[in-house]
Amino acid sequence: MKVITTIASLNEALAPYRFSGASVGFVPTMGALHEGHATLVRQCVAENKVCVVSIFVNPTQFNNKEDLRLYPRTLETDCELLEQLGATFVFVPSEEEVYPETDTRVFDFGALDKVMEGRFRPGHFNGVAQVVSKLFEMVKPDTAYFGEKDFQQLAIVRAMVKQLDLPVRIVGVPIVREPSGLAMSSRNQRLLETEKISAAEIYRTLKKSVTMTDTYTPAQIIDSVINKINNVSGLCVEYYEIVDGNSLQSISSWQDSNYIVGCIAVFCGDVRLIDNIEYK
Ligand code: PAJ
Repeated sequence: MKVITTIASLNEALAPYRFSGASVGFVPTMGALHEGHATLVRQCVAENKVCVVSIFVNPTQFNNKEDLRLYPRTLETDCELLEQLGATFVFVPSEEEVYPETDTRVFDFGALDKVMEGRFRPGHFNGVAQVVSKLFEMVKPDTAYFGEKDFQQLAIVRAMVKQLDLPVRIVGVPIVREPSGLAMSSRNQRLLETEKISAAEIYRTLKKSVTMTDTYTPAQIIDSVINKINNVSGLCVEYYEIVDGNSLQSISSWQDSNYIVGCIAVFCGDVRLIDNIEYK
């Protein structure tokens, strides 16, 4: 495995593979890698001749400076893990390499980024689209892997690829969880053990709610999930929405769609966690 920091050396490293037509798989990350990321990388390694993993904490997608400052950075252990997983190249560009000048592009995702994460983190998905489109341009992957944990991000990336007509296949990978059910996240490192126990109630509550759809409407389930989670010590729900899995717009009846997902954001102390669950 080779660690690469510039676009020029990335091109040089990938040239022979591109020339021979070998398939290039790509996993973009912000580092502080855990089993969730590892699952994406394993799939990428299994399905491609070359697996490129990028590690770049992208400033343009952080609407909270403190969150950016506190974001965990563990490059050395990340590289050890990626080596074990069989990644071919780790791309770790500097901020100047990715943004030699300010990226002023403004994407229009219509209704997709007006809800949920887009509503509570203004500008977040524009920053994600900026960096992912740049990374796609640099790596030129055939296939890129994204986690369903960031459900709305996956929808935004698919929409961006369509809008820009990029020749990249996007693969969604199911959420990887702790044994407690807590969705794995780099931000979990910032939770105390007691907070982790509280945070495990998020998925437990979501899972239970899926069994209640015969009796309750989506609005009733939303209320009940929010109340249950807010009653757990240290947890505070920012939003819970039950949406059509493609348009991400709220549904009012279980008959409104045949692909329905519930998406949640919860503060556990000052750590913001997201999760989601499929109803059908
Ligand atoms: P990051 O949070 O590091 O996540 C990188 C990828 O790992 C994303 O596709 C995310 O959905 C996936 N992932 C994280 N936790 C997961 C879990 N528990 N199960 C399955 N997949 C999981 O998402 C980003 O970085 C950035 O926004 C990025 C796309 C790299 C752009 O900067």
